Amino acid sequence: MPDFFNPFSGMVPERKLTKEELIRVVRLDVAGELEAIHGYMAHAEATDNELAKAVLTDIANEERVHVGELLRLLSILTGNEDEFYKKGTLEVDTLAGQIGAAGAAAPVTKEEPTIGSLKNTKEA
Ligand SMILES: [Fe+2]
Repeated sequence: MPDFFNPFSGMVPERKLTKEELIRVVRLDVAGELEAIHGYMAHAEATDNELAKAVLTDIANEERVHVGELLRLLSILTGNEDEFYKKGTLEVDTLAGQIGAAGAAAPVTKEEPTIGSLKNTKEA
């Protein structure tokens, strides 16, 4: 969304960003893309004009691609971002499995199946 009232919006610092500052900037950029998706979809849902709905939805989907690009950039910059995403994914999958949510992955179990345990299951 527009940030014109902020007089510092779009200003480039006199020095280059540190790696840590760049990571924070990219996180802000992700938030900006998510806010844009929210706005475009709200506008698309608020109209009966089919062309406007199609264009706004298409733009929202392009912003979703940008989110993916920025998240991949964050992953490369931080070196450990994917570990956190994976942990969050597993937490949701576990909860979804516990309540039997549609589309839920199988609940995460601590014990990995072994050949022996699979044989015992077959015999039972
Ligand atoms: Fe974008």
